[in-house]
Amino acid sequence: MRRKVAILISGRGSNMAALIAAAAAPAFPAEIVLVLSNRPAAGGLDLARRTGVPAEAIDHRDFPGDRAGHEAAIDARLRAAGVEMVCLAGYLRRLTPFLVGRWAGNMLNIHPSLLPAFPGLDTHRRALEAGVALHGCTVHLVTDTLDGGPILAQAAVPVLADDNEANLAARVLVQEHFLYSLALKYRIDGSACFLAPQASLCSLMPL
Ligand code: GRF
Repeated sequence: MRRKVAILISGRGSNMAALIAAAAAPAFPAEIVLVLSNRPAAGGLDLARRTGVPAEAIDHRDFPGDRAGHEAAIDARLRAAGVEMVCLAGYLRRLTPFLVGRWAGNMLNIHPSLLPAFPGLDTHRRALEAGVALHGCTVHLVTDTLDGGPILAQAAVPVLADDNEANLAARVLVQEHFLYSLALKYRIDGSACFLAPQASLCSLMPL
């Protein structure tokens, strides 16, 4: 049985699109059954609909001062759709322990740095300022600690002498698009080898 997966977004949804594309392969162990955004204007919603995936907004502004109410609405929609796992893909709301706890072990996030380096925002700028030789991206389980859950997979990107924030971000994003589906598959069935040739500098943590 393929695992029913929902993707939570807030913006353009390029990682979401990469997951949908990977899951279009019949051998992939997950199907994307729902995309939710906290922002009705998120470009990813239309992108998802064009691929035939149901996509809806649950606008956080409809729940002023009520983070718990917003998360309860998200949780109810996920349950109604029979969702078994959740992938955060550029979801820009900090989650409370309620939603994290409801999906413990079954909620993944992608972060544009080699965690534990550079949790939080502006990761590419901070990596350049720190002068690191390797940057990259991480897929991890979501816990109550921001960007601090167990790491599932990482892909490294060399920082080049003339890199700026934009071109470093672009090269990391290419790896994100590959890494997320690899990590999701790995989380579900313990195997990621069907994608491995695309990664030159990728590591998977023991499950
Ligand atoms: C990605 O860089 C992801 O790592 C971060 O937010 C960005 C979302 O981009 N969490 P997109 O919406 O998937 O294009």
